[in-house]
Amino acid sequence: MNASSTTRTDPLARLESAARTAVSAVGGDAAEGLDTTLKPSAKPEFGDFQLNAAMPLGKKQGRNPREVAAELVAALASPESGVADVIEEPEIAGPGFINLRLRPQALASALEAMDDEGLGVARQDRTHAVTIDVCGVNVAKQMHVGHLRSTVIGDTVARLFERIGRKVHRQNHLGDWGLPIAMTLHSLRTRGVDLDALDLDALNVAYREAQLEAKGDAKGLAAAEANRCGPHRIAELEAQQESALAAQAAARDALVRLQSGDAEMVAAWKRLIEVTMDEVYRATTILNTRIDVDSERGESSFRDDLAEVVDAFVREGLAVEDDGALVVRFEDRERPMLIRKRDGGFLYATTDLAALRYRVQELDSDEVVYVVDARQREHFRDVFDACRMIGWATLPDGTVSELKHLGFGTVLGPDKKPLKTRSGANFKLMDLLEAAVDRGTAAVRKRADDPNAPTHGLDAAEIDGIGRAVGIAAIKYADLSCDTGRDYVFDLDRMVAFEGDTGPYLQYAHARLSTMLEKAGDRFDPAAPLLVDTPEERRLVLLLLRFGEAVADAATSLEPARLCRYLHSLATEFSTFYSACPVLKAEDDATRSSRLRLVSIVRRALADGLETLGIDAPRRM
Ligand code: ARG
Repeated sequence: MNASSTTRTDPLARLESAARTAVSAVGGDAAEGLDTTLKPSAKPEFGDFQLNAAMPLGKKQGRNPREVAAELVAALASPESGVADVIEEPEIAGPGFINLRLRPQALASALEAMDDEGLGVARQDRTHAVTIDVCGVNVAKQMHVGHLRSTVIGDTVARLFERIGRKVHRQNHLGDWGLPIAMTLHSLRTRGVDLDALDLDALNVAYREAQLEAKGDAKGLAAAEANRCGPHRIAELEAQQESALAAQAAARDALVRLQSGDAEMVAAWKRLIEVTMDEVYRATTILNTRIDVDSERGESSFRDDLAEVVDAFVREGLAVEDDGALVVRFEDRERPMLIRKRDGGFLYATTDLAALRYRVQELDSDEVVYVVDARQREHFRDVFDACRMIGWATLPDGTVSELKHLGFGTVLGPDKKPLKTRSGANFKLMDLLEAAVDRGTAAVRKRADDPNAPTHGLDAAEIDGIGRAVGIAAIKYADLSCDTGRDYVFDLDRMVAFEGDTGPYLQYAHARLSTMLEKAGDRFDPAAPLLVDTPEERRLVLLLLRFGEAVADAATSLEPARLCRYLHSLATEFSTFYSACPVLKAEDDATRSSRLRLVSIVRRALADGLETLGIDAPRRM
């Protein structure tokens, strides 16, 4: 249970507080700091919840834990506990576990208490904001499947924080500055490419060509000379080397012009960003992520801070010279962090230092989460530590901001190697999304052919809209439901299946409930008295009562997968309930009304959970 949900006055909250009171009454000083939260029982025969404080308390006091448990049980069962009407007689099991079972009426009123907009999700009132580093695309390059993860997971983590009431800033740290971009600009200009007609594919090609042009083969040349490869080969390599050096010089020149604000250069550069971002926003829109121009805070926006960032580290004695360059050293690692090159240029790390200071200090964040490829772990370790050393992680009120790298694993192909096209190129994210949408649409259209399907007879545009939602849900859920740090295999067939641990399965469960409520019409009464009689109803209600905890837990642990698991078990538990307990054909009116209300709460929990994950929940499927 979540301690922050104590504002609730429902039976569960009362039971939690009674447990705390009992533990401190029995334990006295020894109870200090003990975990008194109620844990959901693993099996129905252990009751609904367990209180496990008797063991640590017994240990501290040097007493038999079962004896301690007996005293706790007596305290809970006494009329003064205030929960005697809420629970059945508690049982002691094994070394001193206390099994608690709520009375059906208490379960009903606990559910009643969460049956409002909030669905039992406690809102955290914090003065400071949280910043999430999302997306992080690079200008002039196609989005690939890695950007799917920084975009999807980043946005969902942001939504989770928003759901628990926190102010959130999404920051898209675009790679929009530096030599590679200047190189591309130069190459486009010398070739007289019409920037107005440019699309991202063409831009991507120009980027790669510019890289090639600037890449001489110094090693090859040395080897050719050493091995006396013949004048022809050597001359060829020399020419290549010369033109590479010329391209590099030209790119540096272009960078200087860009940096000094040359109007023509700047206009071309802006056009490159526009071409890139048009496509990025096409993807983020299809993906239903809230990443837009407001999230844009690319590397270039910190370009004027870099010299000053470096000066600050020098001034504080935290940066030292190393062979002409400036580095920050850390006590516990060999490798220093480079913040200024010998030629005076700044680095990825320098920009990240400036950005992190901005996030903590200007955006007033007491938590900054970087949703970035796990392979950048060392980079963030350095940047975070350097920021703490110089004091930029500390807010004016003394709060030390928590800096976290949520590193994600790699998306793999069927061969368990990083996902590539047959020709070995990176998959364009857009192509993957389109493939998923096609699959989803085909599945939904096929279903709609059945005269009994709720979608039968809907117009084609509506059916295709549902299909798109299904395809995207498939991709997003697959990305969110595995533990973030792990690699996973991209398998579209499995992802779009309506059965199993998939997004479409959850959507389908939600749509079934919606259809059921629609059929019930005015027989559904949102205020009907809730009856919790059968074991299936009981299990379903207990699970619903944990919705708030599931959301809060996924947010604070930065693991959307936990909410996925919760929603999946809610959908499965609902199926079990539904096969055992008729709803529209219930034995009497009171039971039917109660069950319809239960259906409606489950539907809303699913819809809310899916929305928090960033997954659409169509009403019909
Ligand atoms: N553009 C970077 C890359 O493609 C990712 C940016 C991640 N965010 C950051 N603040 N460094 O690797």
